[in-house]
Amino acid sequence: MGSIAEYESDIERQGLLEGEGTPSSVLDAKASRKTRQRRFIHFSVISIIIYVILFRFVVHGNFTKKSSGKKNVIFMVTDGMGPASLSLARSFRQHRDGLAIEDILELDKHLIGASRTRSSDSLVTDSAAGATAFSCGLKSYNGAVGVNPEKIPCGTILEALSQEGYLTGLVVTTRITDATPAAFSAHADWRWQEDLIAEHQLGHYPLGRSVDLIIGGGRCHFLPTSKGGCRADDLDLTEVAQEEGWSYVANRTSFDDLELGKNVQLPLLALIAGGDVPYDIDRDSSVYPSLEEQVKTALTALTKATEDSEQGFFLMIEGSRIDHAGHHNDPAAQVREVLAYDKAYKYVIDFVKNLDTETIVVSTSDHETGGLVTARQLTPAYPDYMWVPQALVDAKHSGEYTRAKVARYSGVDLEEFVKTEVLEKDLGIKDYTSDDVKFIIENKQNCQDYVLDMVSKRSQTGWTTHGHSAVDVNIYGYSNKQSTMLELYQYLGGNHENIEIGKFMETFTGVNLGQITKIIHNTRHSASASEEKFKLLAEDPYHHYGPLE
Ligand SMILES: *[C@@H]1O[C@H](CO)[C@@H](O)[C@H](O)[C@H]1NC(C)=O
Ligand SMILES: [Zn+2]
Repeated sequence: MGSIAEYESDIERQGLLEGEGTPSSVLDAKASRKTRQRRFIHFSVISIIIYVILFRFVVHGNFTKKSSGKKNVIFMVTDGMGPASLSLARSFRQHRDGLAIEDILELDKHLIGASRTRSSDSLVTDSAAGATAFSCGLKSYNGAVGVNPEKIPCGTILEALSQEGYLTGLVVTTRITDATPAAFSAHADWRWQEDLIAEHQLGHYPLGRSVDLIIGGGRCHFLPTSKGGCRADDLDLTEVAQEEGWSYVANRTSFDDLELGKNVQLPLLALIAGGDVPYDIDRDSSVYPSLEEQVKTALTALTKATEDSEQGFFLMIEGSRIDHAGHHNDPAAQVREVLAYDKAYKYVIDFVKNLDTETIVVSTSDHETGGLVTARQLTPAYPDYMWVPQALVDAKHSGEYTRAKVARYSGVDLEEFVKTEVLEKDLGIKDYTSDDVKFIIENKQNCQDYVLDMVSKRSQTGWTTHGHSAVDVNIYGYSNKQSTMLELYQYLGGNHENIEIGKFMETFTGVNLGQITKIIHNTRHSASASEEKFKLLAEDPYHHYGPLE
């Protein structure tokens, strides 16, 4: 058989000849071409029918078999990461490391679809409604943590799998009581009910303990104020947890004692920061483990603990603070958060490739944050087509870090400090003006937006909001089993509502979330009077929990 190019040029030649009358040799050629075309069409139709039959058979055949087989489900969330963050991170790394334009992120290799993110009460979702869409497979209102629009607690995939005998884990870089991990392991009318969320996460609700492993920040809502925490009551949940059999880890030394998962006694409560774990760009690795280290520990511990059991594990992993960098409009911090996540994601994929147990990995975002764009018009003149990754390479710290540094300065020469220590050293900015320095000094307590705008302008990074946006986000998928990979494409390939991702996990594992909903319907989910104080904090747009050491 000739090449496609030859075949096409054949047709072209015949087409030209047809226009010039119809000698008999041409008629012959035309007839044989028609026969060839007809045969080709028949062949194609039959192939498609056979393919569809085979595909359905393969998928359904495996499906019944798989519902009873051992599986692991790894669900990963990039909070607040939209498609522009990936473009930014890719170009940043190519530029910084002198890599070819073909160099892509690990995530890029597994792109399968896109997710629409709206909640039940807004076109722009928050993380609580976004995570509830994944955990319960239903749309709820902004602020809802594992409850439906009528504020009725809904069974989550984590709870359902725990009831089936799976071991379960949550790994995050924010507070473990924050919206995303909470929506899988707690039920609260509002995301700011973090005192209650901590109680549910330890199993203090009708279902009992459903989580076997916790690694994240957020000691705050497990400890009373008398012990450096921020609970509205006097409970020390870290003590309660240890009495109930949890191993407790609260610092780098005892995290290291876990030997990256080889020495873990489940259930594990590892609260590695008082509030959020610092941004990767600021992280002191002698104090805080990386997301990759957290993930290694979780995967190794859960794999080991399920080695001899009939069921596998469910692990939720969140790159939590991509969202915070978006809220702050901090491109230098965000790009490092995305790369830290991608590194952890690569570890997950490599780990799963070597597992015998059938495992799926789904990674997606709850929404985009910041309205990030990798281009920015700085003057009325028509802009050049460019953005400047070098400005983000030069920035060595986040706005969050520099704001705190300036606010805490107690020396005698703030001006010199702002110029050399903050602008030049931390932010890599040499071309600042005296007006810039004056503004920062005059706004010593809150210069964050100002300095971050300086970084954003120099990198020509654009932001449209300090909040979330409604753009579609990506869905990534991987399985160590070929037929499951096909299933992932069949269910999540193309563009989907976010709830379909939750429903896919339910279908894939063959559990019934409705049954859990019935068991937990008496769960206390409304805010207590003492918890109401957190509502006020939550309404302050600049409120966030730094590491409370
Ligand atoms: C780390 O935490 C453990 C308890 O988990 C405690 O015994 C130890 O003193 C702590 N170490 C430091 C340096 O704070
Ligand atoms: Zn957010």
